[in-house]
Amino acid sequence: MKFHGALARCVAFSTLQQLTLAQSAQELIDSVLNPDPDSATYSSYSSEIYYNATLYNQTPIASTNYDRLEASAKLRLPAAAYDYAAGGAGLGKTVAANRKAFDQWQIVPRMMRDVLPHRNLSTNLFGRTLPAPVVMAPVGVQTLFHPTGERATAKVFGELGLPYTLSTATSTGFADVAEANGDGSPRWYQLYWPSDDDLTRSYLRSAKENGYEVLVVTVDTWDLGWRTRDLDRGFFPFIRGIGVQIGLEDSCAHEKLGFNPLAPNATAEQKQTAALYHVITTSRGISPVWRNLTKLREFWGDGPIVLKGIQTAEDAQMAVEYGIDGIILSNHGGRQVDGAIGSLEALPSIVEAVKGKITIGFDGGIRSGADIYKAIALGADFVQLGRPVLWGLAHEGEKGVRHVLKSLLAEFDLTVGLSGCETLDQVNSTFLQRVE
Ligand SMILES: Cc1cc2nc3c(=O)[nH]c(=O)nc-3n(C[C@H](O)[C@H](O)[C@H](O)COP(=O)(O)O)c2cc1C
Repeated sequence: MKFHGALARCVAFSTLQQLTLAQSAQELIDSVLNPDPDSATYSSYSSEIYYNATLYNQTPIASTNYDRLEASAKLRLPAAAYDYAAGGAGLGKTVAANRKAFDQWQIVPRMMRDVLPHRNLSTNLFGRTLPAPVVMAPVGVQTLFHPTGERATAKVFGELGLPYTLSTATSTGFADVAEANGDGSPRWYQLYWPSDDDLTRSYLRSAKENGYEVLVVTVDTWDLGWRTRDLDRGFFPFIRGIGVQIGLEDSCAHEKLGFNPLAPNATAEQKQTAALYHVITTSRGISPVWRNLTKLREFWGDGPIVLKGIQTAEDAQMAVEYGIDGIILSNHGGRQVDGAIGSLEALPSIVEAVKGKITIGFDGGIRSGADIYKAIALGADFVQLGRPVLWGLAHEGEKGVRHVLKSLLAEFDLTVGLSGCETLDQVNSTFLQRVE
């Protein structure tokens, strides 16, 4: 028997449903414990867990708590891979500030409002209706965390109908990720803007041909931050040929190199040269500039452009002036500038400056469903998940990713309901209070 309903909530909601629907006892139990899959809710993941543990003695593949999830991922991963993902720039102060910023807001739940088990968390982003305001952050080199890497994460986001963002530093190419993600799934492409226009055009063409609909341009990582954990090991995956697949597959790069590094007769030296060429052209230490956005718009053609890495109201306002469709408030998970402000700290001023004029995404430090709630309540139109998904990936690939994503969505759904809201647009800053 499939068990989708929430055991605990079954009791709580039964009175309400009997009153409103006048169902028989059996109908009511069936509707909660064994609903039509289309009507299963995110929050029902908790009852699925309790049911599997009770009947089959099966507990989840990883913890539902972020700290324990990260700790068990650490045990499973090679030390260099764990450090690559966990680490930040310098002393790690920005990584810590991202978390601290969430602790500065507390949720103030309201009671006895009309709330039913089916909350409507759907939202519209760039012309698509999505079931929840949650997007996969662009994260490179995912095969470091499991051999299935981007294929696994793209598959799970596709299954759940949530946007998947492919990084320019991916270890799996455009077409393979698109195939894993599934026909018709919302796919975005994150550009590390090459210094060579021919390469930029070629990457964007491949993205479009493979169904990537939104262009996310990362503007904070045109040179690599001072990443002490990686520096101490001398660990830079790209020179080792991991995270350069887009460059290796690109026909324009082949022309520039004078060879195809993926040809059966390509030498190890040629592969290394091609890997270096990709890294150098995409993070050469030359900052992207506002005036070149006009050129990028021309290369990308129709379709939304989003700037990722914006941290001030002034830059958000500039994005509006340049006719950009969205921004993502992000400090790259604290990996670029050490001692910077926590991402969430910048959200209220950015919302005040540009809300309604441009779509506002947010990432940096989201570790739970309650964190998603706080960012949405402060005015973000969507949030991105980074490290939690990687720690999930370290637990048997797609299984672990699915568990982490379903857990975050379940807790978010519950937090929306338990704070007294039924739909996403009811979640606003009146449900938060700032604490010192
Ligand atoms: C291992 C790792 C790789 C990343 N790779 C990229 C990338 O290729 N492109 C990009 O724009 N951001 C990249 N990011 C930053 C994420 O998109 C996102 O901004 C960050 O993970 C948010 O912080 P959080 O994961 O701590 O919540 C990466 C982050 C991590 C942890």
